[in-house]
Amino acid sequence: MKDTAFYKDVLNGLQAPQKYLPSKYFYDAKGDILFQKIMEAPEYYVTNSDMEIFSNQSSQLVEAFGNYYENFDVIELGAGDAVKSTFFLKALANSGKSYTYRPIDISINIIDFLHSELPQRVAGISINGLVGEYLPALKQAYLQSSNKKLVLFLGSSIGNFEIDEAKKFLREVCNLMNPGDSILIGFDLKKNPRQILAAYNDAGGITKAFNLNLLSRINKELGADIDLDSFEHFPTYDPVTGSCRSYLISKKKQVIFITGAPKISLSQHEPIHMELSKKFSVHEIDEIATELGFQIRPYFFDKKSWYCNAIWEKK
Ligand code: TRP
Repeated sequence: MKDTAFYKDVLNGLQAPQKYLPSKYFYDAKGDILFQKIMEAPEYYVTNSDMEIFSNQSSQLVEAFGNYYENFDVIELGAGDAVKSTFFLKALANSGKSYTYRPIDISINIIDFLHSELPQRVAGISINGLVGEYLPALKQAYLQSSNKKLVLFLGSSIGNFEIDEAKKFLREVCNLMNPGDSILIGFDLKKNPRQILAAYNDAGGITKAFNLNLLSRINKELGADIDLDSFEHFPTYDPVTGSCRSYLISKKKQVIFITGAPKISLSQHEPIHMELSKKFSVHEIDEIATELGFQIRPYFFDKKSWYCNAIWEKK
């Protein structure tokens, strides 16, 4: 246990002056099911707004990539089940363009799944997945072929980085890209603060269960004794910064034991930061593109303008 990344990351987080847990660990088998349920919750608009853009505007999206002709690579960072991108890949295929789909995912199961599933969704698709972390896998994709590349970074995942980290990450992506390559990147937009807060605080308590599930994962996998009932789920939204943050708050003064680790003390009301989901204005999106030196190409919005899929081109 002690030599796993999970153990080290959890300990680092809980020993930090401001306690946090890395949100990538939400997604164990139970977490995957809970996240699926979050996406089905009536309050969680994010997936619906994003999906609406792909289901209604795929052919316009394809038109926006008119400068992509033959034999290019469509690289998707964190492909997951690729439901949204399937709309786009179908539309690309229907327009007669030939491309190779290169999904990147940390999970080999996902990549295996996509290799067997995608040919059933898009007849004749050429698919060549990469297992790994975003940047090393993207680098590999650039080393493996000199094809023109289109990078997809969908689902507002960029909002889960602190803003400086987001810029650093995108700068590294930009550095790997060749002039004329584009990135299609999803941003959840600032909107009625109540709407946003409700999406991260559903009445059915699924988001709460999702957050607490990480504590039970720590109990199970790291031999810890955390009492889930002694934590309260506390989501916040700051309409100025657009930061939507989830915390678990310790209801009482308590001590946590993780097998083999020094004991961890929490005072009453002490927060553990769980997740950031940053919301952007279009102006902020433009500013980031400009700061990083991308050329701004068309942006796509859902009917309510709650979500934006932006195209940026490397100059
Ligand atoms: N990271 C996703 C988002 O920002 C998924 C998510 C929804 C989430 N609610 C959450 C992650 C609560 C952690 C905690 O929308």
